[in-house]
Amino acid sequence: MSLCLFLLWLVTIPLLAYSQSNPRGYLLNCGAGSSSGNDVTVGSLKYITDEGFISVGSTSTIKQDGLVPILTTLRYFPDKSARKYCYTIPVIRGGKYLVRTTYYYGGFDGGKEPPVFDQIVEGTKWSVVNTTEDHAKGMSSYYEIVVQAKGKALMYNATDFNKYALTTVARSSFGDDGDIIGFPDDKFNRLWQPYKDQNPVVNSKHNVTPSDFWNIPPAKIFQNSFTASRGKPLQIKWPAGSLPSASYYIALYFQDNRNPSPLSWRVFNVSVNDKNFYANVNVSTRGLTVYAPQWPLSGQTQIVLTPGQGIPVGPVISAGEIMQILPLGGVTINRDVGAMNELRRYFDNPPPDWSGDPCLPGENSWTGVTCTPGKQYRVTALNLTGIGLSGSLAPNIANLTALHHIWLGGNKLSGNIPEMGSLKELQSLHLENNQLEGLIPQSLRKLPKLREIFLQNNKVKGDVPHTPQDKKKNIQLKNDLDSGSQSPARM
Ligand SMILES: *[C@@H]1O[C@H](CO)[C@@H](O)[C@H](O)[C@H]1NC(C)=O
Ligand SMILES: *[C@@H]1O[C@H](CO)[C@@H](O)[C@H](O)[C@H]1NC(C)=O
Ligand SMILES: *[C@@H]1O[C@H](CO)[C@@H](O)[C@H](O)[C@H]1NC(C)=O
Ligand SMILES: *[C@@H]1O[C@H](CO)[C@@H](O)[C@H](O)[C@H]1NC(C)=O
Ligand SMILES: *[C@@H]1O[C@H](CO)[C@@H](O)[C@H](O)[C@H]1NC(C)=O
Ligand SMILES: *[C@@H]1O[C@H](CO)[C@@H](O)[C@H](O)[C@H]1NC(C)=O
Repeated sequence: MSLCLFLLWLVTIPLLAYSQSNPRGYLLNCGAGSSSGNDVTVGSLKYITDEGFISVGSTSTIKQDGLVPILTTLRYFPDKSARKYCYTIPVIRGGKYLVRTTYYYGGFDGGKEPPVFDQIVEGTKWSVVNTTEDHAKGMSSYYEIVVQAKGKALMYNATDFNKYALTTVARSSFGDDGDIIGFPDDKFNRLWQPYKDQNPVVNSKHNVTPSDFWNIPPAKIFQNSFTASRGKPLQIKWPAGSLPSASYYIALYFQDNRNPSPLSWRVFNVSVNDKNFYANVNVSTRGLTVYAPQWPLSGQTQIVLTPGQGIPVGPVISAGEIMQILPLGGVTINRDVGAMNELRRYFDNPPPDWSGDPCLPGENSWTGVTCTPGKQYRVTALNLTGIGLSGSLAPNIANLTALHHIWLGGNKLSGNIPEMGSLKELQSLHLENNQLEGLIPQSLRKLPKLREIFLQNNKVKGDVPHTPQDKKKNIQLKNDLDSGSQSPARM
């Protein structure tokens, strides 16, 4: 899985696997440096350095009294020419992951305003990161998303993770005003924010058993709940802000807060923005969750619980989750991704944005890489002309069978020209002005669409054999191009 972003500290946790002591996955302390002495332990969670997950960017520290250690180091990316910077995190294919990124600007660069930028997960633009408002309040910011590492299920299984991701809008524990609830109370390290309004709060007299619920909420979120007096509807405007028009996943959590008894249950209807969400919910002291996998929301959200006829107690609600359903941006065919990664490995100094998905999102493809959109993206052109590239050409270039153009002229590439007999779509091959050597692959002549072959000013030997079709080709092979003659010679 690749994750592209610009600052701080991140967490990926598979939603299936967890152990008693630590959620399995990666807890990274960005910019922490290479010594393991820089690992930071928060509660029972250990955050390790991000080195080994990213090879670009610079690191810095924030000197501020009382700052939690995890926020004191950061990674930043001063070079604005790159189209993205990526963290690459090992995952189990098909596993579902919760990814959380945390940002704290802290004026580390002497500036007053935090940078605003996009974050990308896999090949999909996840969100804009704008920490301006939190920064003004002296707070850090976090973002959360559930994605599938390109099938298998449990949590949030109502969502087709081949097509969508879920990005957290709000996960709130109603009636609380204490700390955020997270690990170890929540086995999946989801974070539950305290949320209070003018509604009366009641305490629970009985702990729920999280494993009774298919999505395993922490027992703590049931400890306090909103309620309303007998016969009255309970209204909550939550989340506090206005939401963009989109489809959302909504889950609501309830528990009758009284001591368990055959009479400790209550019935009410739940509506969201005046639409019936669930009718006649019967909530006991064991607790209950109801959810909608896709619910349209726009603007301010209002949830209303209306008590059933003759119910002697008011409705209660303990917690809620709203996640926006984010359509995934498509995929690049695996074979091309594999080949591009090999190509990068053979270059000594690939552009800094050569990581993550080579094609996606469209506006963040790798520098010099052109792709055709579609259900599956393909790499169709490589153009890294005159950028001082050194290293050699990976034989895997032959796997990029949708390539029309290879333009790598004017660099310092050395080694042999690999076999490219499989590149049936290739129209132009520019490798001039490099330090390539060895024999010109004879398979080039078999490429039906190849019209332009520029190999001059290399140390290559041999000819592209003449065939009748060669008449139409534009070929430059000479190692010692006559000075001034830049126009290609026709053969
Ligand atoms: C970031 O958020 C602030 C406060 O909400 C807003 O004023 C500003 O325009 C935003 N910046 C960008 C670049 O979107
Ligand atoms: C999700 O999985 C749980 C546990 O297997 C199951 O109880 C629940 O009905 C499933 N939900 C959907 C929408 O498939
Ligand atoms: C609600 O559930 C309880 C058991 O928890 C049951 O005794 C009661 O009859 C149910 N009430 C209604 C109205 O269905
Ligand atoms: C709850 O919803 C059901 C189904 O829409 C409706 O028949 C019933 O009258 C509602 N009850 C209350 C108290 O609004
Ligand atoms: C490749 O890039 C060079 C330099 O930026 C440009 O002149 C050339 O037209 C490009 N070739 C193609 C096929 O787009
Ligand atoms: C890609 O290329 C390499 C080396 O040429 C080859 O070993 C490998 O099997 C190819 N992979 C695919 C998926 O075609």
